[in-house]
Amino acid sequence: MNMPVPVFSTVDEVQGFCLSQQKAGKTLGLVPTMGALHKGHLSLVTLCQQHCDVTLASVYVNPSQFGPNEDFDNYPRNFEQDVALLESVGVHGIFAPTNEVMYPHGFSCKVQPPKIAGSLEGELRPNHFQGVTTVVAKLLNATRADVAVFGQKDYQQLVVIRQMVADLNMATRVIAAPTARQSDGLALSSRNRYLDADQRERALSLSRALKQTKSAVEAGNIDARELAVELMQNLIDGGVDSADYAVIADAATLEILEVVDRPAVALVAAFVGSTRLIDNLLLSE
Ligand code: PAF
Repeated sequence: MNMPVPVFSTVDEVQGFCLSQQKAGKTLGLVPTMGALHKGHLSLVTLCQQHCDVTLASVYVNPSQFGPNEDFDNYPRNFEQDVALLESVGVHGIFAPTNEVMYPHGFSCKVQPPKIAGSLEGELRPNHFQGVTTVVAKLLNATRADVAVFGQKDYQQLVVIRQMVADLNMATRVIAAPTARQSDGLALSSRNRYLDADQRERALSLSRALKQTKSAVEAGNIDARELAVELMQNLIDGGVDSADYAVIADAATLEILEVVDRPAVALVAAFVGSTRLIDNLLLSE
């Protein structure tokens, strides 16, 4: 039987836990999540466990990173199942604050995200990254984690958080976890559960189109503008209902490339039905 894991709901509680672990000489890792956990999240936990003595997961659906027309109200929530899953992989604690704890009456600070947050997701989802940087800064400050793990699936988020941590001299080391995929290539996402069978089939066009781009680069095509046009066409031909973007960018700065002459990443965002999916693939490492 799995050991019951302590669940902390206030900042004082989680701070007390983290401080006592660190005073005992243990290194502490944090895996921030919004719950609705799947195998991808559990792979973040496993990676975190390889880098620290004590692993804490946070489960908090952060309202400030959702736009007014986005799925905050309907975002999948299943806390009991999340706790059972986190117990099964041996986390040492769960931080599950309420909105009142995270954004108490009078709360007014916001963490201005770095410039890199202005394009792609940031352009289409105004204030999204400000919500992310604010909540992640709060989570890192509350826990003083030595390491924190973020998935490469949210590639721009990862780059934004890395830059925030560097710019604000935060002591936490950010670790990137590879995107977990189903055997047919679909990137694991809490939003996949919105897809019916036909939509799920069409959602495969994201990972397929990205793979085609990577194969084209490996075959010698380094014309990034041409690759981006083909990427978009492959998404559409593969059956997405609409695509927000399909780009080839510098893997570190997310600057849109004309030529793949340095480490690069292909990024896509598309709608299948009313579900918005994102995915990406590093083209050269
Ligand atoms: O990637 C997510 O699940 C969220 O954006 C995060 C990092 C937990 C912040 O709410």
